[in-house]
Amino acid sequence: MRSLLPLSLLLLLAAAYSGGGSARGLRAARGQGPRDSSVSPSVTSAPFWVRLSPELVAVPPGGSVWLNCSSSCPLPEGSGLVTQLQRGKTVSGLSWMSYQLLDVRAWSSDVRCFITCEGKTRWATARVTAYKQPHSVILEPPVLVGSEYTLRCRVTHVFPVGFLVVTLRRGGRVIYSESLERFTRLGLANVTLTYVLSSGPCDLWQPVTCHARLNLDGLVVRSSSAPVTLTAFAWSTKSKALSFTSIAVLAGILLALGAAYLRKRRVMQARVQGRVEGEGRNGSHRLS
Ligand SMILES: *[C@@H]1O[C@H](CO)[C@@H](O)[C@H](O)[C@H]1NC(C)=O
Ligand SMILES: *[C@@H]1O[C@H](CO)[C@@H](O)[C@H](O)[C@H]1NC(C)=O
Repeated sequence: MRSLLPLSLLLLLAAAYSGGGSARGLRAARGQGPRDSSVSPSVTSAPFWVRLSPELVAVPPGGSVWLNCSSSCPLPEGSGLVTQLQRGKTVSGLSWMSYQLLDVRAWSSDVRCFITCEGKTRWATARVTAYKQPHSVILEPPVLVGSEYTLRCRVTHVFPVGFLVVTLRRGGRVIYSESLERFTRLGLANVTLTYVLSSGPCDLWQPVTCHARLNLDGLVVRSSSAPVTLTAFAWSTKSKALSFTSIAVLAGILLALGAAYLRKRRVMQARVQGRVEGEGRNGSHRLS
């Protein structure tokens, strides 16, 4: 037996982070020119390999990282790095170059390096991911009104919010899950999920938990709230009949961007900004 109960979800996003997003393609930094090599490389047509390591690396937003472009070529004639990330120091050895990348704010950046050996150029790629595990995941004490509980879960200081999934579980079972994938290129965000639950007697004593999961290309970061238990209330025959949950979900999205975030946007990111605001306006919708 199914019947309609109101469930509502409110996600409140507040970007507190001033420099999120990427400036794709506009700051492609070129690598060094050919390196001086006065000694002719030994004559061999054997293929050489080029490696950029680590191939996949994660940093906190705004952090920095070193990538090492190395090769089997004994005497490279040239090498360089192509990236939209800000460059820092460079250290080099005989057949490797190590590059520092600064202020990583795009959630994912592809970095390429090349090495030229005996007139042939080979490339290697790596990916730099920026993420911030939520500072906290807090499930507030449930508020009981009539036969409905209002559950509110707050996920603070998380990045990138577009890869976040917030899930409510009761006794291990998923009672609600929301992916925030439509929110792209925001900075650090606070997310509040509000869910109205009509609880059946069978589940009453099972603890409810809130889970935040960042699902980043091959890297999964999980955080959970402490469990809360729904308190008992008098069951009428009617509410027993309604013990099967999850019928209708009313979801609303409200997006608030921090003032500092707006001010510090680069001019070339104005288009991105417009899209974010558009998402905010169109965010209110119904899920079934
Ligand atoms: C996000 O939440 C944290 C902790 O509750 C708070 O200190 C911070 O001001 C919030 N940021 C925004 C932009 O609302
Ligand atoms: C870069 O990689 C090469 C080859 O693996 C290694 O010999 C060199 O020490 C590395 N450099 C740095 C700075 O890690």
